[in-house]
Amino acid sequence: MKLLHLDSSILGENSASRAISAAIVSSLTAADPAIEVTYRDLAADALPHLTLDVLGNPDGNAELAEFLAADIVVIGAGMYNFTIPTQLKAWIDRVLIAGKTFQYTAEGPQGLAGDKKVFVALARGGYYGEGPAAVMEHAETYLRAAFGFIGIANPTFVLAEGIAIDAETRAKSVAAAIEEAGSLAVSA
Ligand SMILES: Cc1cc2nc3c(=O)[nH]c(=O)nc-3n(C[C@H](O)[C@H](O)[C@H](O)COP(=O)(O)O)c2cc1C
Repeated sequence: MKLLHLDSSILGENSASRAISAAIVSSLTAADPAIEVTYRDLAADALPHLTLDVLGNPDGNAELAEFLAADIVVIGAGMYNFTIPTQLKAWIDRVLIAGKTFQYTAEGPQGLAGDKKVFVALARGGYYGEGPAAVMEHAETYLRAAFGFIGIANPTFVLAEGIAIDAETRAKSVAAAIEEAGSLAVSA
């Protein structure tokens, strides 16, 4: 099985989502050491914004080929300004490609990538689960919509919230997410 591991945080070693995405990958590879991991740091090696050239040449789209070859995708993302890092958006722009990962039919859009399992480690400075802030959450909701559109209906999210509250809240939140990551399996 092939696992594609992506990180997109700009915060380097202080990133919460990087620690959690690494814990997810460790857990999955411990359960199945034969998993072949490809790692891509979308912050260190940022993709340019989408262009017409990229869109018009899907067969030359290396990120799409890498995604299509993967059985499992593990993504680390922090919430930046209520949504995902632009570095991750640039990757998604290369992966949601008509005719490759979805197609339009008489019955409406149809996802073509439903054979993959996606895990997302998502770190948020505040809390968005309920209350007035819930409508400002455009990271998890966006990723669920984007992956759902290409047929991946149920990505697994490991959340760490309250990262920006104080050091103690951050430490507890990240530790709980890492513990949760430890019990994940590909069939989740
Ligand atoms: C540029 C920037 C924008 C942020 N915007 C938000 C935000 O809109 N809402 C929020 O709850 N936290 C926000 N935060 C806090 C991050 O979500 C939090 O630090 C999280 O840990 C980021 O993930 P990372 O540590 O993996 O980079 C922001 C942080 C940065 C650096």
